[in-house]
Amino acid sequence: MNFGGTIRLNRIGVCIIIGVFVLFLLYMSSNSSGGDAKVPVVKDVSDNNSINLRKLLIAAIQVAEKGGKEVVAVKKDNNLDEKTKGKTKEGVNDPVTKADYKSHCVMYYSLKHWFPTLKVISEEHSSEKDCSNLLFLDLDLNPNTVTSSSISLPDEMIPPEDITVWIDPLDATKEYTGMKHNLGIENLLEYVTTMVCVAVKGKPIIGVVHKPFGVEPKTSWAWFAVAHTPNLKPINEAIKNISEQAFGKNVEVISAAGAGYKSLEVATGNVTAYIHTTAIKKWDVCAGNAIVESLGGKMTTLTNEQLNYSDTNVVNEKGLLATMAKHDWYLNRLSPSKVKV
Ligand SMILES: *[C@@H]1O[C@H](CO)[C@@H](O)[C@H](O)[C@H]1NC(C)=O
Ligand SMILES: *[C@@H]1O[C@H](CO)[C@@H](O)[C@H](O)[C@H]1NC(C)=O
Ligand SMILES: *[C@@H]1O[C@H](CO)[C@@H](O)[C@H](O)[C@H]1NC(C)=O
Ligand SMILES: *[C@@H]1O[C@H](CO)[C@@H](O)[C@H](O)[C@H]1NC(C)=O
Repeated sequence: MNFGGTIRLNRIGVCIIIGVFVLFLLYMSSNSSGGDAKVPVVKDVSDNNSINLRKLLIAAIQVAEKGGKEVVAVKKDNNLDEKTKGKTKEGVNDPVTKADYKSHCVMYYSLKHWFPTLKVISEEHSSEKDCSNLLFLDLDLNPNTVTSSSISLPDEMIPPEDITVWIDPLDATKEYTGMKHNLGIENLLEYVTTMVCVAVKGKPIIGVVHKPFGVEPKTSWAWFAVAHTPNLKPINEAIKNISEQAFGKNVEVISAAGAGYKSLEVATGNVTAYIHTTAIKKWDVCAGNAIVESLGGKMTTLTNEQLNYSDTNVVNEKGLLATMAKHDWYLNRLSPSKVKV
C-alpha cells in the first residue's frame, strides 16, 4: 500500500519535472524566434502552390458576370441552338443551349487561365478549341470596382488541393428557353442565374449568384465569416424567433425555378424554406449553400447531412432543405416517411 503511494508520489514528481523542463524549452524557443516573428507572405495568384481566396472571389464575381453577358447575348440573338442532354430521372427534358456552352467557355477557361492549378467542376464540358473568341485576359484581380470599396477583404492563402470550384454557367435553362412549364409566371428569365462556388475541404465558403436579366443585372455573393453583398442582409432575429406554431399556419407553397434563385429567396428572407425532393447536382446548390450558411442559415439533405463539395460525386440523391431558421422543425415535418426522397 505504502509502496504504491510512494510510486504515485514519484510519478507526480517526475511529471512536474518534465513539465517544467518542457516549459523551459518552450520559453527558450519562443524567445529565440521572438525577434523575427513570421510575417505571412502574400503571394500572387500566379503562384501555383497557394491560391488567394480574395482574388478568387474577385475572379468568381467577374466570370459569373461575363458568363451572364454571353447568356443575354445569345437570348437577344434568338438563336439558342437548343439540344437536349436527355431526360432527367423524373422524365423531364434536360435542355442545353449555345448559351450554356458560351457561358461555360468564358467562365471555366478564365478561371483556369488565372488559376491553372485550380480544380474547377462545371456543369458543361467543352474543349478550349471549341470555345470561339475566348476573352479571358482582362480579368481585374485587384479592383475596388468589383466589390464595393466599403468592403475590405483579407488575403487568405489556401493550397489548391484543398479547393474545389463548382460553376453553373446557366441555371434554369428550361426557363431560359421559354419551354412550357407549369409555373404560370410570365417572365421566366428572372430565374436564370450563373453561379460560382468555392469549397475549401468540402465546405462551401464563397458563393456567387449572378442574375443576368432584369432591369439591372445583379450579383449577390457571400464569403463565409468575412463579407457579403449588402442586398443579403442577415434576417431579423425576431423572424428567427417566431414560434413553430406560427410557421405551421398559413403555409404558402411558392413554385419557382432555378436552385440559385430559390437559395437567394431563402437567404433574403423572402421565403422561409427551399425544399427539393429529387436528385440535384452540386453545381446547382453549392453557391446557394455558401450564401445561406454565410448569413446564418442552414442547408442540408432531407436526411440532415451537409453536402460535401470536395468529392467529385456530383449528384446529391437525398433531397435538400434550406432555411434561415427552424431547420430542425422543417426537417421533422419533411422526414422521409412524409416526403419521398
Ligand atoms: C503554374 O502552372 C502552370 C501550368 O502548370 C505553369 O505554366 C506556370 O509556370 C506555373 N506558375 C508558377 C508561378 O509556378
Ligand atoms: C469532405 O470529404 C473529404 C474527403 O473525404 C474530407 O477530407 C472533408 O473533411 C469533408 N468535408 C466536410 C466539410 O465534411
Ligand atoms: C425569443 O422568444 C423568447 C420566448 O418566446 C423570448 O423570451 C426571447 O426574448 C426572444 N428573443 C428575441 C431575440 O426576440
Ligand atoms: C418575394 O417572392 C415573391 C413571390 O415569389 C415575389 O413576387 C417577390 O418579388 C419577392 N421579393 C423579393 C424582395 O425578392
